[in-house]
Amino acid sequence: MIPRRLLAWAAVDWGRWYMRDPQLAVVTCRDRVLLVGAGGRRAVDGVDGPAVSAALQQLTAPTPGQSLAADGLEAVLDAVAEVGGLLDGSSAEPLEQARNRALTTSPGYHFAPGPPQCERLVVGLTGTVISGLMAPILLSLGYSGFHRELDVICTDAALRFVQPELFEYYGIRTWTDPFTRKPGLPVPHILLGKSADVLAVMPATAASLSRLARGGCEDLLSLVAAATEAPVVLGPTMNTAMWDHRPVRRNVDQLRADGFYVVEPTFFFEAAELVHNVAPACGMLGTFWGGPALFMATVAAVLDDWRTSLPQTGG
Ligand SMILES: Cc1cc2nc3c(=O)[nH]c(=O)nc-3n(C[C@H](O)[C@H](O)[C@H](O)COP(=O)(O)O)c2cc1C
Repeated sequence: MIPRRLLAWAAVDWGRWYMRDPQLAVVTCRDRVLLVGAGGRRAVDGVDGPAVSAALQQLTAPTPGQSLAADGLEAVLDAVAEVGGLLDGSSAEPLEQARNRALTTSPGYHFAPGPPQCERLVVGLTGTVISGLMAPILLSLGYSGFHRELDVICTDAALRFVQPELFEYYGIRTWTDPFTRKPGLPVPHILLGKSADVLAVMPATAASLSRLARGGCEDLLSLVAAATEAPVVLGPTMNTAMWDHRPVRRNVDQLRADGFYVVEPTFFFEAAELVHNVAPACGMLGTFWGGPALFMATVAAVLDDWRTSLPQTGG
């Protein structure tokens, strides 16, 4: 068992090793970071989003304490520790073991009913194998009553990995083509954009991030993102080489600066490499680790953050 201790920054033990808990969710938006961990939630303001992103990426692997001296990130790392999201050990090995344990302990379903968090949730699925793993999360959302209405948008590439019929059989309305009407709903992007409380593009490919970053409105997903005033949460999912590609990073930095909520990737194993036991790559939260419960906690944290940051209108 890895001890989780409250880390006063001044008391960081440079001789120890640190790693982010696989089940910690980190969401960056403008100069703000939201942390959702086993020990609760925190928000930290006045941070440099790209620097936080880089530090958290480093911490997906066991990291020696002395290299944690990231200027300006002390408050974030202390907050990560406060929500139970920073694991520490005397060497890299127990941290690697903790990471590997996530492979066998991640819950696949979360069917605990709770109060609805929003009226309409719109989920965007994009062209990655991770979209093929989203059914348990979508079904758990429904069974838990997270939303009153759920709409799923699949990009054309997502259709290579998911069958919308599966969702439709469970009563989840799905969309792909912006020009396809449904009874009473003549223009899908207007309806979905206006009525969404939150749009969660999870998982989000590099290509979809690129479209959203430049305001491309050439498919239903990017049309809805442009047509909505609701918060948009993005869960980037790609291998490390793509995540580290400068144009991809530039898009993510732009999205963060524009007020999109970016779920900082934790790690998963590239599908093609899983059987070869290679090093982890980046991936959206909860794909394997926190499961549906962490997905819900993260979207709920974004909704709370959005609602509390809206300008209050006088009565
Ligand atoms: C098997 C396979 C897996 C892929 N996985 C990813 C991925 O994890 N992340 C990503 O950014 N692109 C991935 N791609 C590439 C995207 O599918 C491609 O860029 C596509 O145009 C994305 O379109 P979309 O963003 O409209 O869904 C993958 C492609 C293939 C063939």
